[in-house]
Amino acid sequence: MPHIVFEQISHLDFPKVSDGVEFSFIANSKHESKISVKVDGQEFLLTKKAKESSQINPLEILKADKATRPSKAYPIKKALNAFLDAYGVKTIFSNISNLKDNTKQSNKYLKEIDYFLNDFNTQKEIWVEIGFGSGRHLLHQAKKNPDILLIGLEIHTPSIEQVLKQIELQEISNVLILNYDARLFLEFLKSNSVGKIFVHFPVPWEKKPHRRVYSKEFVDEALRVLNMDGTLELRTDSREYFDFALSILTNLTQCHIDIDINKDLDISSKYEDRWKKMGKNIYDLILHNNTISPVQNIESSFEFDKINIEKIKDTLPKKSLVEEDYFVHFENFYSINDNSALIEVTFGSFNRPVSKYIYINDLQPSYFQGKPLITKANIKAHEKIKAILSND
Ligand SMILES: C[S@@+](CC[C@H](N)C(=O)[O-])C[C@H]1O[C@@H](n2cnc3c(N)ncnc32)[C@H](O)[C@@H]1O
Repeated sequence: MPHIVFEQISHLDFPKVSDGVEFSFIANSKHESKISVKVDGQEFLLTKKAKESSQINPLEILKADKATRPSKAYPIKKALNAFLDAYGVKTIFSNISNLKDNTKQSNKYLKEIDYFLNDFNTQKEIWVEIGFGSGRHLLHQAKKNPDILLIGLEIHTPSIEQVLKQIELQEISNVLILNYDARLFLEFLKSNSVGKIFVHFPVPWEKKPHRRVYSKEFVDEALRVLNMDGTLELRTDSREYFDFALSILTNLTQCHIDIDINKDLDISSKYEDRWKKMGKNIYDLILHNNTISPVQNIESSFEFDKINIEKIKDTLPKKSLVEEDYFVHFENFYSINDNSALIEVTFGSFNRPVSKYIYINDLQPSYFQGKPLITKANIKAHEKIKAILSND
């Protein structure tokens, strides 16, 4: 990780611009400071803290803040270089000399979750594959069904890279790939827009069932996004997972289920080949949706009212606030001046918590680096944070 170590100086002034890099404020807590920096329009925080050393003069280390840092090293190195120029500190160590802009061209089939929130629009029917692994089934379905848009979800980066290469090589154009937890993704799709959801050989998580893709909430969301006659298709070698999924589907009214064992499909995945060789049974559990779901409208401006910093500073809850389907945890308070501050807070769903900073500028809070993703858990957590900051 790019960082610099330098001799402490008594005063750093803000705002300041150096080599096109803007340093807007410093916010201090007991143990460390956060410095706001903007490089090529991208805003993030640097963490500055004391570094233990045997030298006579006290040393400090400066590096990118974990929750806000850019994914590439280049803007971080540029910010650290500009800091050295701007403040003329005495450098003891740095690993930022290789300042090459290696920000790669992004792949047009690889999407961020924001794309599905703000820009995604298709006239095509959507099919979703969860945990596509080697991608054999996903690519096979895409080639066989050119009028369908396939969305592939995976959290294993090497699998994603491998499948993106195959998409280019095989000149497939009706697939979008997303590195995102499938348990939370369906929330971003419109009601009645999906024809099929494939969940083939999900990780059984025998010891940690709460990590399984299938849950009551997941199946409810699946039914909402599936169109009339749309299907949620589980294929697994795990009898335990099959029974678990069946128990979730059994009492639903707006659908019917089909069960099969050792059915042959057009295409067999790597996992399937392995299990078949071992003589294991393969179970299929197909849920057919029989209803049209109402349109879902989730909205939030994620805004705050002006606050009284003095009042909240010492009253922010120290313990996590845990509700049934979300939580809020105030991590740290950083003071800028009498009317401005930075609050670090973790919140949202238990499966995918968000770490964000709330920047209070002249008593007006807003989310640093923009609003959180608009999910049900984030909206509820925001309302809680807002109430606490307003001292309601
Ligand atoms: C056992 S592999 C099966 C891969 C593929 N479906 C096949 O049949 O060969 C399970 C895959 O699901 C992915 N996965 C696990 N949990 C996930 C989640 N919550 N969201 C998306 N993908 C997930 C894993 O990274 C892994 O690649």
